[in-house]
Amino acid sequence: MFRSLKKSLIATTLGAALAMTGTVVQAEKLGIGATASAEEIAGWDIDIRPDGKGLPKGQGSVEEGEALYEQFCSTCHGLFGEGEGRWPVLAGGQDTLTEERPTKTVGSYWPYASTLYDYIRRAMPFTAPRSLSDEQVYHITAYVLYLNEIVEEDFVLDQDSLATIKMPNQDGFFVDPRPDVQNTRCMKNCADPKQLHIAGTLRGITPVGHFVEGADAPAASHEAQMEQESLKEKVRKASIRGEEVSAGGHGAAAALSDKAVAGKPTYEGACKVCHGSGLTGSPKVGDSDAWQPRIKQGMATMVGHAIKGFSGETGVMPPKGGRVDLSDKQVEEAVAYMVESSQ
Ligand code: HEC
Ligand code: HEC
Repeated sequence: MFRSLKKSLIATTLGAALAMTGTVVQAEKLGIGATASAEEIAGWDIDIRPDGKGLPKGQGSVEEGEALYEQFCSTCHGLFGEGEGRWPVLAGGQDTLTEERPTKTVGSYWPYASTLYDYIRRAMPFTAPRSLSDEQVYHITAYVLYLNEIVEEDFVLDQDSLATIKMPNQDGFFVDPRPDVQNTRCMKNCADPKQLHIAGTLRGITPVGHFVEGADAPAASHEAQMEQESLKEKVRKASIRGEEVSAGGHGAAAALSDKAVAGKPTYEGACKVCHGSGLTGSPKVGDSDAWQPRIKQGMATMVGHAIKGFSGETGVMPPKGGRVDLSDKQVEEAVAYMVESSQ
């Protein structure tokens, strides 16, 4: 964003320069805009590159940084960068990046120290961005690096030493080597999209519209979902009228309880990715052997596991299958559907 802004400021300057030599008359007639002054451009032109280019003159020490940090930053980020309440953690977290819930901090995650200087100068303190002097930012940056055990306490940070700091996770950033990432655009004899087979989708995430009719995937399931929706509606209306509904043409669905029928769309949209095939060690729907021991625990336990998440012998069931937007009731209905379809 800042880069393009810089460009447009430069364009303005350039435009103005041209206007002066050529079409001055017109510019004056319109009487709008003003040439950005060198000072104005400098005010925006504050990005800093990993090699330190763009750093202002100055230096800062861990020692002075400590006092400034305590004054301006610790109320939110904690005295030691541990983060107060839900404010971001700035230190620690090393070796957590491969965990399910990594602690991403300046020390554990950020690839370049230059970003730290840039970020603090640009955006912090949260309530008063750009209020610190360049010198103060040097002190505080040094201190945050110290909190992360990246520099010693006698370290002095300046525009030369900053670029020499190697951040612990620098090598964690690399160009994705997987071959399909470097796909070149196909210009002729391309694969027919109709022949492409999508093996798994997430409702609300995978775009619809590329699906092969009848394929064992999404379209199938998105449409099935609508079908279920209309069936559910029929059942609902019929129950108001006091009628029994045999869900015409839906043999399997007809055998399900109302609750299970109501749960099918949720299952299709949120649970099938794993439970449709047994992915990541999940009990596959329809596989009675996999479900029997679980069913013995009783519905309440299973529903509890599905809502709160559960880490058992075969894998990890994420809370609500990762779809925290679902209500407890929807999850309960989905479990009913899964269980009744697996007996
Ligand atoms: C009022 C609370 C508050 C104060 C005070 C504050 N910050 Fe922040 N800080 C935040 C919030 C909120 C974010 C996350 C902003 C975002 O993600 O858009 C943040 C993000 C950061 C980050 C990036 C963290 C990351 O890993 O993404 C750094 C570094 C940081 N602050 C440093 C500082 C420093 C240094 C100071 C003192 C000069 C400071 N902050 C003062 C609230 C605060
Ligand atoms: C990312 C994959 C994944 C998704 C998505 C997922 N599950 Fe699971 N689920 C699992 C795994 C793995 C297990 C087995 C955990 C174990 O027993 O080790 C499991 C187990 C279960 C169990 C059995 C719990 C028990 O007590 O034995 C239920 C019930 C369940 N899931 C319901 C759901 C529902 C409902 C949804 C959708 C809202 C859902 N799951 C979505 C992976 C998933």
